[in-house]
Amino acid sequence: MKSVVVLLILSSCIGINEAVEDSLVFVYTIFRHGDRTPETNNLYPTSQYYNESFFMPYGFGQLTNKGKLTAFKVGQELRERYKGFLDETYNIKLIDARSSDFNRTKASLQVMLAGLFPPTEELVWLEGMNWQPIATTYVERTSDKELFCFGCPAWDPNYDDFQYSAQGRALLKGNENIFEYITNKTGKTYRQVLDVYFLYFGFAILESLNETLPEWSKSVYPEKMANMLGIHYDYMTSTPILRQMAAGYLLKEILEDIDDKISDKFPVKKMSIICGHENNIAALLRVLDINEGYNSLPPYGGYILFELHRKDSQYGIKIFYQNYKTAEPKLMKLPECQEFCPLEKFKQIVEKDIPVSDEVCRPKSAASGNLPLQSIIIFVVSSIVIFNSSTFIEFGK
Ligand SMILES: *[C@@H]1O[C@H](CO)[C@@H](O)[C@H](O)[C@H]1NC(C)=O
Ligand SMILES: *[C@@H]1O[C@H](CO)[C@@H](O)[C@H](O)[C@H]1NC(C)=O
Ligand SMILES: *[C@@H]1O[C@H](CO)[C@@H](O)[C@H](O)[C@H]1NC(C)=O
Ligand SMILES: *[C@@H]1O[C@H](CO)[C@@H](O)[C@H](O)[C@H]1NC(C)=O
Ligand SMILES: *[C@@H]1O[C@H](CO)[C@@H](O)[C@H](O)[C@H]1NC(C)=O
Repeated sequence: MKSVVVLLILSSCIGINEAVEDSLVFVYTIFRHGDRTPETNNLYPTSQYYNESFFMPYGFGQLTNKGKLTAFKVGQELRERYKGFLDETYNIKLIDARSSDFNRTKASLQVMLAGLFPPTEELVWLEGMNWQPIATTYVERTSDKELFCFGCPAWDPNYDDFQYSAQGRALLKGNENIFEYITNKTGKTYRQVLDVYFLYFGFAILESLNETLPEWSKSVYPEKMANMLGIHYDYMTSTPILRQMAAGYLLKEILEDIDDKISDKFPVKKMSIICGHENNIAALLRVLDINEGYNSLPPYGGYILFELHRKDSQYGIKIFYQNYKTAEPKLMKLPECQEFCPLEKFKQIVEKDIPVSDEVCRPKSAASGNLPLQSIIIFVVSSIVIFNSSTFIEFGK
């Protein structure tokens, strides 16, 4: 008895990780890519930085050396966290690794895996090379429902409907002047939340490169512009259909992987790894109603872990979020569940946000019962017949 107590005390002193308790069965990881250079949508043409040569050798929108280190450390951190669970010797059946269809996420995933799986003895293939190739996948942007909701034809119309609704405008209250102000100062038109959201990243990147931001930015950056991030994430997760596109397809895949694990479809597999974007993480946190750093930007290399545990023959999920405010990833709790959330309960909670089919990602005309295209065509054709061309031209003025 005494020795058990001593052991318990000892293990809590040396910080044996909760994650490697015997109950752990499977982990689904989603991390944000590492630090990057801006894209043109993060800049404006009158800026001195609106010139790709400034960001050489990377070019626009690419992972930087600092970003490589960030992503590498994610891999190292997870290697450390899961050392008793995830085999050190890489095996193709052990993990799935997928990124979004962006150079920076593809590259981040490579380097994260280098941190997670340095070759063990028998896999060293070149003396002194502490790296081994690991295959990864991605889905083209236009069909990546899990990681790129903006590729859903139904995304923009639904997003716009909400942002221009009374409810959407109310969320913007007190921030409206920012569009005209930034438009005046940059000479580029900023008319919606998303425009300012993109510019925020540009400033944040220049700042991290120790570049001097324009004087006029001081009154809006970072605070007022940062509000726009939170508002964009709110818009993204405002209506049932937007929530399904923003995070539902990804949640669906997470649950499918978990079910596959439970049914022993892939007995060797222990982890799925996804490299995506801050909006993937932000949308997931909002849809799960995890109120942690809710309004703040998920940092480079930030990640969410969905851990499947089995305790007393009951499966449940534990969610951890690493936003580097603390050393260890923080154990999160859904408002309607315990920290160890029984799987069935978890499924009930997220059910409304899981798309039942790919229909959700269809264009608005088909999804929401607006006039089908056919009737529009019939209307136009018959108009032409009824009104002859001269009348029709009047119509168009
Ligand atoms: C971009 O910067 C390079 C190097 O300073 C310069 O040669 C080039 O003319 C610039 N391009 C534009 C479009 O200003
Ligand atoms: C990757 O970077 C290259 C070079 O800038 C660019 O042409 C290409 O479109 C990028 N691909 C993706 C998927 O972002
Ligand atoms: C933008 O510029 C116009 C014309 O110079 C000026 O009337 C307006 O007050 C400016 N708006 C802001 C928000 O600075
Ligand atoms: C920016 O400045 C900080 C503090 O002086 C320094 O630690 C950092 O390396 C600099 N970053 C770059 C990209 O030069
Ligand atoms: C339209 O009406 C005008 C005058 O009634 C006629 O001259 C013309 O041929 C008609 N055009 C067509 C396309 O029916």
